[in-house]
Amino acid sequence: MRWQGLINRYGAALRIAQYVQPVTLCEGNTPLIPVPRLSTWIGGGAQVFVKYEGLNPTGSFKDRGMTTAITQAVAENAEAVICASTGNTSASAAAYAARAGLRCIVLIPDGKIALGKLAASVAYGAEVVSIRGSFDDGLNLVREIASTSPIVLVNSVNPARLEGQKTAAWEICEQLGAMPDRLCLPVGNAGNISAYWMGFSECSAGECPNTCGCREKRRPKLLGAQASGSAPIVLGRRIEQPETRATAIRIGNPARWKQAEQALQESGGHILAVTDEEIFEAYHALSRLEGVFCEPSSAAGVAGLRKSVQQGLVIEGETIVCVLTGHGLKDPDSATADVQPPITIDAKLEALKKHLKV
Ligand code: F0G
Repeated sequence: MRWQGLINRYGAALRIAQYVQPVTLCEGNTPLIPVPRLSTWIGGGAQVFVKYEGLNPTGSFKDRGMTTAITQAVAENAEAVICASTGNTSASAAAYAARAGLRCIVLIPDGKIALGKLAASVAYGAEVVSIRGSFDDGLNLVREIASTSPIVLVNSVNPARLEGQKTAAWEICEQLGAMPDRLCLPVGNAGNISAYWMGFSECSAGECPNTCGCREKRRPKLLGAQASGSAPIVLGRRIEQPETRATAIRIGNPARWKQAEQALQESGGHILAVTDEEIFEAYHALSRLEGVFCEPSSAAGVAGLRKSVQQGLVIEGETIVCVLTGHGLKDPDSATADVQPPITIDAKLEALKKHLKV
């Protein structure tokens, strides 16, 4: 049967309006890929899988939340939607708004979003407003606008967003046939970690529509990773000027901070900071050892897992899922930043042989 997206698959198990046609790009159903060579690199004897969310229609997990948020907005007769974004939310909002025929306005921090994300938002016809300020400044602005004008806010403070995003947890349980022992993911505005916890909790309570036998009492431990220059939850204080090369998670005051802390505590998990260097090591390991290309922020979960293994926090034999939140092609500058440009040779067999030393 043709896969027709999350709302078609999970229907009434999602707390959104059920009486309108879903706005969908057939998102979800992303692969869960075993990564044995990366597992060895991480160490600790765990069996690691990656949930490759970069394969969603606009290249990130945001599409899960946007099919539900835009469908809900249509049900509420919205004419326009707005968000602040480090790039992926804006690309996704722009695509789903285009599909629904809605006006879409996105605020982005000037010069701090990856090229592919800006290109996508523009291509989908969004009104892109670049602000002299951070994501956090942008979120304050759009919250204000949405509270005083008939424009629907589609950042993850909108509960419909989490309804879609929690389905990734259900998919993982179905793909594994069981709950994982641990789930690792990057944390920015903290919507996704909150959504995963909701998903696993509902699974455990028998409230998800899967029939995969994952209705276990046991839920996975969550492992959140923040970039060390943007680690408000780890440090327990707001960061006024967050910095990191992993621009997607360059956030100093997460909107779902409290909910994320509660999820971490209930799961018996932990959150830690990883340096940009550690993030980029994991980013290169993923593509060079496994052929899985994600954006730098996505690799933070893998970097956090490796660090946790080194700190003795991971138990041997665990089944661990790392969520790769966005596709590597979104950020071509990061992919080419630390590497030599290719050498150009004459288009001659001799020249090629000489170059390859064969
Ligand atoms: N990974 C990627 C690739 C992201 O784009 C984001 C967030 C996160 C992780 C963190 O998820 O915010 O739910 O904790 N990007 C948002 C955006 C902020 O505007 O695209 P979170």
